[in-house]
Amino acid sequence: MPALVLLGAQWGDEGKGKATDLLGGSVDYVVRYQGGNNAGHTVVVGDQKYALHLLPSGILSPGCTPVIGNGVVVDPSVLFSELNGLNDRGVDTSKLLISGNAHIITPYNVTVDKVTERFLGKRKIGTTGRGIGPTYADKINRVGIRIQDLYDESILTQKVEAALDGKNQLLTKVFNRRAIEVGQVVEELLGYADRLKPYVADTVLVLNQALEQDKVVLFEGGQGTLLDIDHGTYPFVTSSNPTAGGACTGAGVGPTKISRVIGILKAYTTRVGSGPFPTELFDEDGDALRRIGGERGVTTGRDRRCGWFDAVIARYATRVNGLTDFFLTKLDILTGWEQIPVCVAYEIDGRRVEELPYSQTDFHHAKPVYEYLPGWSEDITKAKSFSDLPKNAQDYVKALEEMSGAPISAIGVGPGRDETIEINSFL
Ligand code: IMP
Repeated sequence: MPALVLLGAQWGDEGKGKATDLLGGSVDYVVRYQGGNNAGHTVVVGDQKYALHLLPSGILSPGCTPVIGNGVVVDPSVLFSELNGLNDRGVDTSKLLISGNAHIITPYNVTVDKVTERFLGKRKIGTTGRGIGPTYADKINRVGIRIQDLYDESILTQKVEAALDGKNQLLTKVFNRRAIEVGQVVEELLGYADRLKPYVADTVLVLNQALEQDKVVLFEGGQGTLLDIDHGTYPFVTSSNPTAGGACTGAGVGPTKISRVIGILKAYTTRVGSGPFPTELFDEDGDALRRIGGERGVTTGRDRRCGWFDAVIARYATRVNGLTDFFLTKLDILTGWEQIPVCVAYEIDGRRVEELPYSQTDFHHAKPVYEYLPGWSEDITKAKSFSDLPKNAQDYVKALEEMSGAPISAIGVGPGRDETIEINSFL
């Protein structure tokens, strides 16, 4: 079973870093297939805490080759500062591979992201402001700049010219900004070329050869299912496909190669940025989840919106990703509540609805229908097996599993690498 996909089953920030890192020691390659430095993974190793945005979590496991696939968008300055930060702490990053087909987040993409959000006013998406959407837009409009373009100055110049022609019209005439100079951009981008060179590879070939040799490859999704451009709560989404199919296009492996798809599911729900969120809490329970769960964005430092577990979303994630397993994270955060509400269905304009509505209007009107499960007060952070959990915590997990449509194969009971209960092995 060599190829696994690990992805967020909610709106991102489910604790994917911990899950990937847990497997990192046993896998040969960890691959990011979409998104960019809008992601934020926190990995705790011993007493060290690492915040990763662009690099795959596997970078912290010595035997593992980290790969940035063709579907990722790369801001070279962010990449270098992340590499420098890790090198300063003694982490070897020399095995990193980056697809020559990955697109570059240029400085003008970051500018366009920020000015577009400003112009949207109260309709804004609440993006991370990292230039993600405009870079994917350039890719789809066929005016994107790829890593491989850095090695042909004449091609690079032509491509930057093509990309800036229209944008400069927009920036100067609509957004009232100064035009961006082609020469300056080309110079900045060329300045990254030498340092990037040793990492640049034909990652599609490398990964397919690795799979032929029965190596274990882990595809690590950024963001989450409900932020998917096709399957999420559009338009309040990111501009890529975090869902399982994205691993195939974003890394260049066929769907027949993927043996297991693991959804990371937080024991409650969070969301960053704008958009509908049926179980969102605006009371002291929401504040408590935020405080106890440390729900503050790794990338943006923004407070996350918090709410109860939503089984409708979990069922949807199972379906749209073909999930084989769940990794339930942050169960320990729920310790201390007398009873824990779980959303089992929605009420939409007086109707009970069991599945995620495809209509945006309906989803905006969805009100949670709750079932109340008994809570627990015992410390669960030392639990090593399922039977170590108090009965009510066991029942909470079993109820979530039943409602969500795939087995819960691991449970996170604390932030550390070893604070995990493994029920079924992923490998
Ligand atoms: P963008 O990805 O910066 O374009 O932002 C689009 C939406 O996705 C915004 O609502 C962001 O808050 C959200 N988003 C992007 N990356 C993450 C993430 O890693 N976790 C949670 N939300 C994210």
